[in-house]
Amino acid sequence: METVQLANRLAGYIESESGETAIVTGTRLFLREVRIEDVTPRYYQWMNDPEVTQYLETRFVPQSLSQIGAFVKSKDGAVNEPFFAICRRDTNEHIGNIKIGPINWLHRNADISLLIGEKSCWGKGYASEAISLVTRFGFETLGLNKLRASCYGENEGSARAFEKAGYTREGLLKGWFFSKGNESDMILLGIRAEDWRKQANLNDTTKKAHS
Ligand SMILES: CC(C)(COP(=O)(O)OP(=O)(O)OC[C@H]1O[C@@H](n2cnc3c(N)ncnc32)[C@H](O)[C@@H]1OP(=O)(O)O)[C@@H](O)C(=O)NCCC(=O)NCCS
Repeated sequence: METVQLANRLAGYIESESGETAIVTGTRLFLREVRIEDVTPRYYQWMNDPEVTQYLETRFVPQSLSQIGAFVKSKDGAVNEPFFAICRRDTNEHIGNIKIGPINWLHRNADISLLIGEKSCWGKGYASEAISLVTRFGFETLGLNKLRASCYGENEGSARAFEKAGYTREGLLKGWFFSKGNESDMILLGIRAEDWRKQANLNDTTKKAHS
């Protein structure tokens, strides 16, 4: 095994079937770092598609390729904000991004935000899987204690994806946003490490009972 591969394995990084270095690997997805080479016209399209960005704050600022590149560069090596490319294991295709952070190391908590930019990949469970993977990374690798996310009241897909990954609705801020000219609520979702571990143990026990 080459030294780099060995070092990656020791650090907990593993390689996907195609030799891509994955930081976290799931059933159909793997997460790796976002690279400047990922800043392609396709990524540009994601960030300028009104349907994709309708519930993202980025919609208020025109997103040029160089602006997106500057954002990606700013997250490179940012220990307080691990920023991952969401990739399909079958094709290696980069379909979106997910971020943990900013991390508050004193309280061991952080926010999760994500985007599945490829609209052809919506509704296939990819967001739920990506959230599960990054949640595992947050609790097991970073030793965090609490993760939270927020979304617009109308963004049912986002709220459901977090719920499927084990998060619960912990609050509702009425009229926090303006969306399409109307007031919109903010749904707050969260999960504690202890509850996540209980769920993980329960899933393991259920799997063993059925095997
Ligand atoms: C919102 C988003 C993350 C959902 O991703 P996804 O991969 O389609 O989500 P999943 O396939 O994992 O679906 C999770 C659940 O939500 C449901 N869902 C997905 N999109 C939905 C929608 N538009 N309306 C209602 N439910 C929806 C799914 O049916 C599934 O529930 P089910 O298993 O009970 O049927 C994706 O559409 C996206 O990135 N949108 C643009 C950016 C964005 O809004 N990001 C979130 C910011 S908080």
